[in-house]
Amino acid sequence: MDIEGRFGRYLARVAYDLKGIVANRLGENYELHEQYVNPTLVDVFRTIGFDRVYARGEGAHLWDTDGVRYLDMLGGFGVAAVGRNNPVVAGAIRDVLEMDLPNMVQMDCALLSGLLAEAIVLRTPPHLDAVYFCNSGTESVEAAMKFARAHTGRDSIAHFTGGWHGLTLGALSAMGNEEFREGFGQLLAGDEVPAGDLVALERVLARDETAAVIVECLPGHSVRIPEEGFLRGVQDLCQRHGTLLICDEVATGWGRTGRMFAFEHWGLEPDIICTSKALSGGYVPVAAMVCRRAIYQSVFSSMERCWVHSSSFGRNNLAMAAGLATLHVLDADDLVTRSAVQGAKLVDRINSLRSRHDVLKEARGMGCLVAIELQPPPRGTRRVAWKALNAAHEGLFPQMVVMPLLDRHHVLTQVTGNHDPIIRLMPPFVISDDDISWFVEALDEVLANRHRLPGPMIGMGSKALKARLRGRSRDRAAKRAASPDDVT
Ligand SMILES: Cc1ncc(COP(=O)(O)O)c(C=O)c1O
Repeated sequence: MDIEGRFGRYLARVAYDLKGIVANRLGENYELHEQYVNPTLVDVFRTIGFDRVYARGEGAHLWDTDGVRYLDMLGGFGVAAVGRNNPVVAGAIRDVLEMDLPNMVQMDCALLSGLLAEAIVLRTPPHLDAVYFCNSGTESVEAAMKFARAHTGRDSIAHFTGGWHGLTLGALSAMGNEEFREGFGQLLAGDEVPAGDLVALERVLARDETAAVIVECLPGHSVRIPEEGFLRGVQDLCQRHGTLLICDEVATGWGRTGRMFAFEHWGLEPDIICTSKALSGGYVPVAAMVCRRAIYQSVFSSMERCWVHSSSFGRNNLAMAAGLATLHVLDADDLVTRSAVQGAKLVDRINSLRSRHDVLKEARGMGCLVAIELQPPPRGTRRVAWKALNAAHEGLFPQMVVMPLLDRHHVLTQVTGNHDPIIRLMPPFVISDDDISWFVEALDEVLANRHRLPGPMIGMGSKALKARLRGRSRDRAAKRAASPDDVT
């Protein structure tokens, strides 16, 4: 019997109409978030003109409440790899609901998590044969750190400058990024090694205290392609010193770089990989840490220790179904190849603009993970304007490109860091040739019109600056309220 048949009277009595609620209240988004969630983020979105109300998503596109179509070059920071609202993934999720499968029973082993673990192991190298499921990228990094410590009996995790591994305390300890660490107190001990510096890494590993080195083979924020030999050197040093190699594939995994995993480009054999983002199909949070069975069993080493590391929501059916369907779509539509092909076209087309725009240093990337790096104009008043913007706030100049891209061309992009003038693109792999033209023509126009500086863009810049200062004074006031004697 269908749901209506079984629960008709109950549904009529309790009547909940989510579609009606969304239809009635769509548009209140920013007010609600301002009041109940993160008003500072709302402030930023309003300042940079990102306070759009998106009503629908499909493939590489979003539509706002006025029906305006946007090109989504961020793909939700990479989660929407198979395209937004992919009907195959949606169908699998609906199937789970329609089957009334018991979800998160906990004292059982469910089928779907077993099937997804099997599907994952089929796609990783043979030595990576044990899967731990959790709910986010940072949780998969936490798991990798704990498993590495349990397996080696060592505490320290080494990481490279400029990496990004997540914002929970453990993962944050493996990131040197001061803005994100500031204010959160003592983190785990570990070593930060300059990216690319094998000599410094050897000095650290020679102490024989390092459980693992964590690395993004292709760093997702800078998209700086490592120098020849660096990653193999890291692996050799790890092997020599009994240190595990963790490849953080949260952003790069599942085809983002044009191979199933980024480490494949360098023929590496990591001991542990962290994956998440794309596995969700853009629908349900999910992460999978995959490692050698021996490492796994160091954690779950006896019956008493069978769940010393776990999460209530890990292995939940909706996430598992999304993961299974996503892997199926990647294969059925040959999307890993498509990521490589479309990403290469995107990089080439952007680089073809370099002769027209001296601020365009380069586009680089692998597959559909692409960075556009800007640089100061070589001379003259435009160089002075760049420096002024940069002095007001590092990262403001690329923001001045990102803002009109959205405002005038309805293209969604992002500045990745405060310190590098980099715009990052992580489009869904389904991005078409027409979409690439849409993006490149928009970028061309925006870069051409930056000559209007100082003009409306400076206006937007000073708005950004004022908002930043407002945020700072609000922080200071909050601190003063918390401890009036302590704030200078
Ligand atoms: C390489 C990498 N590792 C870990 C994370 C953290 O993932 P999450 O945001 O799901 O916690 C991210 C997020 O962007 C990432 O890019």
